[in-house]
Amino acid sequence: MKHLVAPSVLAADFTRLREEFALVNESEADWFHLDVMDGRFVPNISFGMFVVEFMAGLAEKPLDVHLMIVEPEKYVEAFRKAGADVITVHYEACDHLHRVVHLIKESGAKAGVALNPHTPVGLLEDLIEDIDLVCLMSVNPGFGGQKFIYQTIPKIRKLKELIAVHNARTLIEVDGGVGLQNAEKILQAGADVLVAGSSVFKAERPAEAIAQLKAIGGQSWSV
Ligand code: DX5
Ligand code: ZN
Repeated sequence: MKHLVAPSVLAADFTRLREEFALVNESEADWFHLDVMDGRFVPNISFGMFVVEFMAGLAEKPLDVHLMIVEPEKYVEAFRKAGADVITVHYEACDHLHRVVHLIKESGAKAGVALNPHTPVGLLEDLIEDIDLVCLMSVNPGFGGQKFIYQTIPKIRKLKELIAVHNARTLIEVDGGVGLQNAEKILQAGADVLVAGSSVFKAERPAEAIAQLKAIGGQSWSV
């Protein structure tokens, strides 16, 4: 499968959301990545389901909703109704992860699980077959524009192996500090989805930045 690119709207200009969404709609990007923060799980507050619903009205591509909130199970249905296609919850925020993953699937969305930089991928061993996407955080969640944590690269490889051993179809998403400077290494390690905030929206030509991220590894994919 050719890798996917999911621009993270957190880095967009919120005074020009219509234009920013139009730009991504017309680009080679695959998904919109929406970061929901509650000021409790992470030390920042972004937006909630009403804004996601508004964004769903602007988006012509799937919405990948990353919930950086405590007790995410309480809001799965609401975010699904708001238009989420993928709902990702944090491993660290769920006491009953199996239950939450199945709640997401029953809602009709794809189920994602995010791991903070310090959380080992092996902890997902007994659930990997049920998970549609694992989001490896390559920064500490809460803010855009941070530096990529390089220990994520071996984590991607380990996760890829875990997925293969279990014959699962789980996608590997990498989120935080991703850009042209490291995307190739991330993809070579086995990532399927690149989340890119600042490297897209703060670029001089965002559509071109997306196209460049999509083009990486293009040659080897065609053989
Ligand atoms: C971090 C968020 C990321 C962030 C990525 O908490 O989950 O999705 O927006 O932004 P960049 O690409 O700027 O690191
Ligand atoms: Zn995110």
